[in-house]
Formats: sequence, C-alpha cells, structure tokens
Amino acid sequence: MSAELFTVLSPMAGYTDLAFRSICREFGVGLTVTEMVSSKALVMGNSLSRRMLHRMPNDAPAFCQIFGHEPQVMADSVQLDEVAVYEGVDINMGCPVRKIVGSGDGSALLDNPHLASQCIAAVRRAQGNKPLSVKMRLGASDSCGALDFVRMCRDSGADFVTVHFRTRKQMYSGTADYSLLPQMAKLGLPVIANGDIADRSQCVRLADMGASGVGVGRAALGRPYIFAQLQGQPFEMDILDTIERHAQILGMVFAEKVVANEMKKHVAAYLKGMRGAKQTVVSVMNAHSLDQILTLCRTYFAQNPLYRSVRQ
Ligand SMILES: Cc1cc2nc3c(=O)[nH]c(=O)nc-3n(C[C@H](O)[C@H](O)[C@H](O)COP(=O)(O)O)c2cc1C
Repeated sequence: MSAELFTVLSPMAGYTDLAFRSICREFGVGLTVTEMVSSKALVMGNSLSRRMLHRMPNDAPAFCQIFGHEPQVMADSVQLDEVAVYEGVDINMGCPVRKIVGSGDGSALLDNPHLASQCIAAVRRAQGNKPLSVKMRLGASDSCGALDFVRMCRDSGADFVTVHFRTRKQMYSGTADYSLLPQMAKLGLPVIANGDIADRSQCVRLADMGASGVGVGRAALGRPYIFAQLQGQPFEMDILDTIERHAQILGMVFAEKVVANEMKKHVAAYLKGMRGAKQTVVSVMNAHSLDQILTLCRTYFAQNPLYRSVRQ
C-alpha cells in the first residue's frame, strides 16, 4: 500500500452532518460526503434540504450526495448554489431503504442501468469538468451485474465509483464480499472500496486488490480519529470537547431542539463501549434539551476522567 491512503467518510443520513464532517477533517480524512439529499426537494426549494448542505470552511474537499431518478431534475439540482459550492457530486445508487427504493431512487437504479446511465450523463453535462462519482452496491440480490454496472458508470461519465460490497438484499447483514474488487479495479474507473472497514490492515489488503481508496462509514461514528489511525498517524481527541463542539457547530445552522435530537445519537456513538456510560446514554436519549444532554456528558466525564481523552 502506498504511504498515502485515500480515505473517504462514507455518506450517512442522520450522521454526516456539517459538524461531523468538519471533525473528521481534523483527523485527516481525504474526502467527506454529505448526507443524501433529494434532488427533487432541492429543486423545489425545500428549506431543510438546502440547510442540510451548509458546510464548515475546513471541510474540503467535500462532495454533495444527491438521490433521485429523473435525469433533468438531478441535473438541475447540481446547478443550485448550495450544491455547486461542493467540490463534487456523488449520486446515490446504493440506498436500500424501502421508501427510497419504492420511489425509484437509490439502489432501485441498480435494476435499471439504462435510467441510471441517463442520470449520470445528465449530471455529467450539468457538472462540466467538476468531479462526479456514483455510490453503488454489488447489485439487488446478487453481484452478477456489478462489473457491467461499473462499466456503465464509466461510459456515462463518472470519475470514480464507491462500491459498498454488499447487495441491496443484504442490507447491512453478513460481511462485505470483496471478491470482485480485483476485476472491478481493472475496468479503468477508480474504485473506492466500502463495507466493514475498521483497521489499517484491511486497507492494505484492499489497496493490494486494486482499490483506489477506502470509504469508512459506521466505524467512524463516535470515532472520527479512525482516519488518523488508518493512516498510522498519531492523534489525540478530547471526547467531551468534541461533543460540545459538535453541538456548537450544529447550532450555527439548526434550531436548539433539532440540535438536541441530532446530538442524542452522536453522544451515544461517542460514549459507546465506555465503562459505566450506559446509564448516561439512556438519560441522554430521554433528555428534553441540549443543556441537559451536555450536562449529562460533563457529569459522566467528571466521574470518569480517564475516558475523556483518546490518543495514539
Ligand atoms: C445510518 C446510516 C446511514 C446511511 N446513509 C447513507 C446515505 O445517505 N447515502 C449513502 O450512499 N449511503 C448511506 N449509508 C451507507 C454507508 O455509506 C456505507 O455504504 C455502509 O454503511 C457500509 O459501510 P460501513 O461498513 O463502513 O458502515 C448509510 C449507512 C448507515 C449505517
């Protein structure tokens, strides 16, 4: 593996908000991706969708992930200022959630390569030379069409693909199956490998198999320093400070009630696995205000000072 490993914070709805992306950036992530945003909602001027696209100045390069299935709507969405400020666009062709698939979006496009191609080509034209990627899974229920789908992405104008090496049917069960990666990597389109990546030795193996980089999702939740770990870089993170800063950044864009709700799941992730933290997490989940959440966190770390800092 080359000394420089290209790392991507995989898009996660409800998690890869502007604050979390900014915090991951401090630990050297190579590229961040926003939560998925509906291209249709953006074009219709939906204010929440647009607010989701705020970003911090240190968060670059970052891609905006859009979902949809109407080529012209998708093309129009990437020309909006809120999207155009991003360094690139990622098209979601992997989301397995029933509501999304039922509308023909996300991984529904894996079943319809012709329409998927039209979407990519339309966004390509609208984007000009700006980077464009596609996030996909291996297929709907098997990986038979995966190589053809990557070829289609290449021929339709994508600059790279991020592949979650599971099928839609698998959702998040089982383990990612990387057996097609070597063949996929030879198709002339860079492949970012994604699925269950949590340590440097996996990254070495995937790079040896031809991956141009790695996408990390769940393993980064509560552990944004994983990007330093994957690079073998030293790091130090004060968890309480990080939680407070996370909330403060969200507060620059969202109302306090929204911040409190968003912070509940992040605090659960930051405190995951810490001794005696279960009761704090339960109390956080039941909290009624951001103040209450932060007080609970301060109390926990006052009582467990050894857990407050993580370094390597
Ligand atoms: C809570 C959650 C939300 C997700 N939201 C998105 C999303 O908005 N767009 C997307 O392309 N993938 C989404 N994913 C999939 C991840 O980007 C990633 O492909 C998947 O979790 C596998 O990587 P991991 O094993 O590193 O988590 C989501 C995953 C999770 C767990």
